[in-house]
Amino acid sequence: MEEIKVLINNSKLEKRIVEMAKQIEKDYKGKNIVFIGILKGSVMFMTQLAKNIKNNVELEFMDVSSYEGMECTGKVKINKDIRNSIEGKDVIIVEDIIDTGRTLTFLLEYLKQKNPNSIKIATMLSKPSRRIKELDVNYIGFAIDDKFVVGYGLDYNEKYRNLPYIGYIE
Ligand code: IMP
Ligand code: MG
Repeated sequence: MEEIKVLINNSKLEKRIVEMAKQIEKDYKGKNIVFIGILKGSVMFMTQLAKNIKNNVELEFMDVSSYEGMECTGKVKINKDIRNSIEGKDVIIVEDIIDTGRTLTFLLEYLKQKNPNSIKIATMLSKPSRRIKELDVNYIGFAIDDKFVVGYGLDYNEKYRNLPYIGYIE
């Protein structure tokens, strides 16, 4: 069993997510929003964010994985695609954490081809020092140092997703 240290406690984290929700509400006045949550890590963040937005929020999910051993190509494999058309819709991709930025760079290009009216990115966490792909991220919960974090959806070998806070493994 690894030792997990608290990086962002539950109340600080959820307070910040409510702030993000209010910002999104302001930016999308009177509009329907489509959230595309990236499985599995974004699930807790996505629900907490959606519950605090008064607009109508449709929920879609994608499951992607990066090709092992071919990291430099930045190729991403789609295991599960969205169910409904996003043509003409206002889309927000909801991600747990942005590390190198490869996953989102791919997803942004892929989803733009489906002709949404607009597309933005909301991420719970970001590790700016690890970025290798330039990305315009519209909503960031917390920028963190280069630590391996778990909890609130994030896993280490499928463990710790259900921790109610963000922790790190030393
Ligand atoms: P990127 O394509 O390098 O930005 O990878 C982002 C993905 O890597 C995230 O969606 C996570 O699934 C995973 N990831 C990156 N850093 C961490 C971490 O510290 N803990 C858990 N998963 C992480
Ligand atoms: Mg992920």
